[in-house]
Amino acid sequence: MRRTSVTVAPQDTIAPVHRRLFGSFVEHMGRSVYGGIYEPGHPTADEHGFRRDVADLVRELGVTTVRYPGGNFVSGYRWEDGVGPREQRPVRRDVAWHSIETNEVGLDEFAAWARANGLELMLAVNLGTRGVLEALDLLEYTNGEAGTTLADQRVANGAPEPHDVRIWCLGNEMDGPWQVGHLSAEDYGTLAARTAAAMKRADSGLELVACGSSNAQMPTFGSWERTVLERSWEHVDLISLHAYYEQRGDDLASFLASGRDMDHFIDTVVATVDYVGRDSDHQVHLSFDEWNVWRQSEFNAAEQAAIAAEPAVPRPWPAAPHLIEDDYRAADAVVVGSLLITLLRHADRVHAASLAQLVNVIAPIRTEPGGPAWRQATFHPFALTARLTGGVVLRTRTDAPSTPTARFGEVSAVDSVVTWDEEQGTATVLLVNRGTTEPATVEVDLSALGASHVLEAHLLHEDDVEATNSAAAPDRVAPHPLAAELGPDGVLRLVLPPVSWAAVSVGR
Ligand code: AHR
Repeated sequence: MRRTSVTVAPQDTIAPVHRRLFGSFVEHMGRSVYGGIYEPGHPTADEHGFRRDVADLVRELGVTTVRYPGGNFVSGYRWEDGVGPREQRPVRRDVAWHSIETNEVGLDEFAAWARANGLELMLAVNLGTRGVLEALDLLEYTNGEAGTTLADQRVANGAPEPHDVRIWCLGNEMDGPWQVGHLSAEDYGTLAARTAAAMKRADSGLELVACGSSNAQMPTFGSWERTVLERSWEHVDLISLHAYYEQRGDDLASFLASGRDMDHFIDTVVATVDYVGRDSDHQVHLSFDEWNVWRQSEFNAAEQAAIAAEPAVPRPWPAAPHLIEDDYRAADAVVVGSLLITLLRHADRVHAASLAQLVNVIAPIRTEPGGPAWRQATFHPFALTARLTGGVVLRTRTDAPSTPTARFGEVSAVDSVVTWDEEQGTATVLLVNRGTTEPATVEVDLSALGASHVLEAHLLHEDDVEATNSAAAPDRVAPHPLAAELGPDGVLRLVLPPVSWAAVSVGR
């Protein structure tokens, strides 16, 4: 069995571990809000109707930011519908998800929930059916000091202090033909620039995220980013990336190597950003504000079939339907862990990221109405990474055997990243074995960090890669203790079974 060796040096720093890399996303979609975070009448509901059992899991997950309220939903959303007395709020159709939106939860309730759970709010403005004026109004309502009509409305609605939202998305996936109010790159770039310039006249300290491509397979990927950034460069601070991964048929090997695709995606957007900004002192960073595993082709096929069957079979307009509630397998959790490694390795350019989504909708947390909430398999790599990493990301030198994939050819079987918190004197090593048959014997040389003992070592691996958690078996997939030894030579030695992910923290 060939060994994998990983070496790090403390001076070889990529970037700080930005806490915003551990962001999440709550969309008004399916049972994310209604029946997810919010369920009045649930035995654990607080006085505002939010489930305490879900909030406990959200805090345990360690997410830092929460993007809200969409997603595709935001492109038809009127934020005013969700504020003020509940009994006066309109009930509307949401054409993005063919659902009924009751508006029981809106900005003020959600901001209070986020604050109570230590989450930074990342708000999206509607640039699908609305524009500059509505974005400015929302900004004034959200962040304005009392004394103007909109800010006073917020005060009257029970939020005396400004919500002080610092980071804002300028619409969502505006390149997608499915997006309500979808635009060309030229039109969106102009609208994003105008909206951003106006928002920054109100508050120059805002951080604004322009929409990049909906995914790297879009026919306009690359040219979209270039055009949008050429039109909006000076006014925006980040550009978004979105990517969802799924196993195609029985091709587990390519699925496990999804990080390779994410790497390439990030590198391409970085190249485009650097090209557009070649003569500028202004910096535009990357916001990977939707990423996850999602069996999206199943969802797309079902939706296309439902649309094709209309009008003979009218589609219903349900409130809070079960939408894309994927059950995550052990293999999916390994991929989520691997994608976190990729994101951390790009922390020099990726300054924010959001796991999409948080509860029920392609989420690490699932709930039953009136019943329990539980951790999906993907919860674990995220929670461990968010809790154990800190300080700076170090560049690793890895010598590993390769493993074959149909989609990417030969890829390194083991991928890794190391973070180093000098103040605490702790380092965390994240590792993934993307091989499907061979275990990997790994040596990580941490001698340059003066590491002397293992603090924690966790392994995510199931012999049955299809294993999932459920209400009946909530802990079927969970981390196991990993036998990891740190020798007197400062070398960490461990064995990773095939299809596994591990997190090891060491101290000086
Ligand atoms: O996260 C689900 C959907 O995926 C979001 O609404 C949209 O932005 C993306 O296409």
